[in-house]
Amino acid sequence: MSRLFIAVELPERLRERLAKIQGMIRPVLAGVRWVPPDNIHLTLKFLGNVEPDKIELIGEALSRLAADRAPFAAAAEGIGAFPDLRRPRVIWAGAASGAERLQGLAEDVEAKMFNLGFPRENRDFSSHLTIGRFNRPTAIRGLDAILEKAGKEELGSFPVDVITLFQSELAPQGARYRSLGRYPLRGETVGNR
Ligand code: 2AM
Repeated sequence: MSRLFIAVELPERLRERLAKIQGMIRPVLAGVRWVPPDNIHLTLKFLGNVEPDKIELIGEALSRLAADRAPFAAAAEGIGAFPDLRRPRVIWAGAASGAERLQGLAEDVEAKMFNLGFPRENRDFSSHLTIGRFNRPTAIRGLDAILEKAGKEELGSFPVDVITLFQSELAPQGARYRSLGRYPLRGETVGNR
């Protein structure tokens, strides 16, 4: 069994800017496991543990889906926390422009994976780039001001032109992500579908 997820990879320039933001927040916020910048991505669908014989079917479905979806540009903007600022678990950068089309893409991926027997996500899709996780949810005084300040940094745009099937391997140093397949968006239709 391997632990799989489907995501949009980010350009190095954006990952570098996110690393800079992590560097700004790190000294003023304890108890956070920061995601190594190379691992930061935008998750479209978490599949969990998957039997090896299903991987090919997943790849075929993603390849068909990507073939008729048009590439588009998205932009990262603002820093926030999930589920909320009072008991934060995750620190993220938002995807502002392109968010609707990312949601459309995530819903399409969700529908294809549902056809292959993967349960639907019970929460609505919310496009974000996880940059840190709290060891335990803790109320932190002034967190809103810290994130607001960090969120003013320029992050910039990124192309959504490939979706990637990743395998997550737990290594002693943390998660290691290995790409099992990259599926370029090759359609011409502009719009969500
Ligand atoms: P995240 O983007 O909110 O951090 C690999 O673990 C990716 O799958 C992460 O990016 C993570 O989401 C996402 N994911 C979604 N649900 C998950 C779960 N139950 N356990 C682990 N990762 C999950």
